[in-house]
Amino acid sequence: MAGRAVLFHHSGLCSIAPFSSICRPTIRLGPNPLRRLCRSVPPVLAAISTSICCRSSLQAEGADANPRKEEPFVVTTPLYYVNAPPHMGSAYTTIAADAIARFQRLLGKRVIFITGTDEHGEKISNAAEASGCSPRGHCDTVSSAYRILWKDLDIAYDKFIRTTDSRHERIVEEFYSRVFNNGDIYRANYEGLYCIGCEEYKDEKELLENKCCPMHVKPCVLRKEDNYFFALSKYQKVLEEFFTNNPDFVKPTFRSNEVQGWITGGLKDFSITRSSVEWGIPVPTDTKQTIYVWFDALLGYISALLDEGVHPSLEKAVVAGWPASLHLIGKDILRFHAVYWPAMLMSAGISPPKMVFGHGFLTKDGLKMGKSLGNTIDPKDLVDQFGPDAVRYFFLREVEFGNDGDYSNKRFININNAHLANTIGNLLNRTLGLLKKNCQSTLAVDSTFAEGNMFRDTVENLVKKAKINYENLSLSSACESILEIGNAGNLYMDERAPWSLFKRGGSSSEAAAKDLVLILEAMRIMAVALSPVAPGLCLRIYTQLGFTQDQFEAVTWTDTEWGGLKAGSVMAEPNPVFARIELRKEGEEMEEAAGKVTTVNKRKRNQGLVQA
Ligand code: MSP
Repeated sequence: MAGRAVLFHHSGLCSIAPFSSICRPTIRLGPNPLRRLCRSVPPVLAAISTSICCRSSLQAEGADANPRKEEPFVVTTPLYYVNAPPHMGSAYTTIAADAIARFQRLLGKRVIFITGTDEHGEKISNAAEASGCSPRGHCDTVSSAYRILWKDLDIAYDKFIRTTDSRHERIVEEFYSRVFNNGDIYRANYEGLYCIGCEEYKDEKELLENKCCPMHVKPCVLRKEDNYFFALSKYQKVLEEFFTNNPDFVKPTFRSNEVQGWITGGLKDFSITRSSVEWGIPVPTDTKQTIYVWFDALLGYISALLDEGVHPSLEKAVVAGWPASLHLIGKDILRFHAVYWPAMLMSAGISPPKMVFGHGFLTKDGLKMGKSLGNTIDPKDLVDQFGPDAVRYFFLREVEFGNDGDYSNKRFININNAHLANTIGNLLNRTLGLLKKNCQSTLAVDSTFAEGNMFRDTVENLVKKAKINYENLSLSSACESILEIGNAGNLYMDERAPWSLFKRGGSSSEAAAKDLVLILEAMRIMAVALSPVAPGLCLRIYTQLGFTQDQFEAVTWTDTEWGGLKAGSVMAEPNPVFARIELRKEGEEMEEAAGKVTTVNKRKRNQGLVQA
């Protein structure tokens, strides 16, 4: 069968023309199937590697930087395994993706935020069996637990893909056939050590004692199978060039270096079917085998793009928004996303995603928090007690995006109390309190009066910094810049002491009324800028400033410009926007065991506080 020449276009579409120069691997059944089938890179692949478009800067994606408004910003989370309900580690990526999606929407971009569940494979079928359910029933239950959690956490996704969706299955079959027709799939025997937790064959060198997987700390099992392989080794040179031409494809940079090390160390073909696993999509050319769960799941990013009611085809899905602007993943699944996935896509004639960001792990006592180790924090417990804003703010502010971060109840409480309850909540409350007492809750002047005011300059500079930080995916620094506005507001309040100025009356009183407008304008700007991170809290702030929910929902990043508050506007009654988290007893030691939060139960206290 003839191979195919592929030409990549910026849109993610590709043209495919038959061509005969790609060497077709010989089918070999033997003890060492991983030997390179085709050592030399086909010339056409080498050529396309330089023509693949990979826009690396997310900054260039901003509406004001990119006039091609029709091109969507597509951000994805991993598709989560449904072997167990979600834990804080899975919630973390989704919270980050949601903040990034909300920021891009503020910039005016058409955003497609994709999340979903990964439902095939041995790990899932084992979990279903253990729970006494059919695989389908088990997947339905756990997948819906993810959706419920996303709702509780204020996650505004656009697409939720399940890999057991029949439309996704059609896409996987079509993709497999493309790769097969391109001569990149061959059959062989393989014997190796398999980690069911990772759903991956492991190199013995990377294992701990007793052949234990370092991630799951469980022994790998010896497997011998007759499978179909993807000829990854053919893409060695193309991938090397791709990384050279797209230095920002993998972020942070230190992870890109790691990936490039794997590539230059030599790429091995990998098996993409299973003869022993029934719970999967049958291989189109051999129904005795099912498609490997990773080969299947990665395609969820593309099938998720299909519009409702459209006949599923790769072309239709790709036109709807591929290539993805940003895949957000944890560092453990970097090889799949940054090496296997681009090569698979190249083989099928589809552009690679524009960027893969590998974040670190949430740890508990230094160990990766996870379902397998059972050391997880239940995000539902946290949300039920403290509301979504506290959970979202804490993890985005506390963990430098890209690095690991250890969870502690004490930190959770201290950070939220200090930042959300004190710096932001108290400032708003006392400003509105003074305005009520002295100005009938009415603004004396337009906030634009403050031309040349130093406090205003500080706010304007900080919000610019926040934007740059969001654009660079430095989410913690973005929070920090915004919180600095609150600190500056508190300082201004203390220095000006408007309560004394009001007492003096006359022009002092007028100056005090103006000071309150300045501080409230800064609070308004903070509410827009922090809305990607803590949308509920920011809505509560906005409505206290006299705006409606509809007005809040219509804000864009342009609303961070100084000058939104108008003379004569009436502010709402001061009402705490974030309830302080209190310990059960003064000074009581926090219990640090995973998942246990020994505080006064503030159930729903920080949710639904909108009183405007
Ligand atoms: N199903 C695959 C992904 C397929 S994507 C096409 C998978 N699922 S997973 O549920 O095991 O993990 C999903 C994501 O959660 C991964 O990015 C993983 O890194 C992340 N996390 C799981 N535990 C984590 C922490 N303790 N901390 C941060 N993220 C972690 O892999």
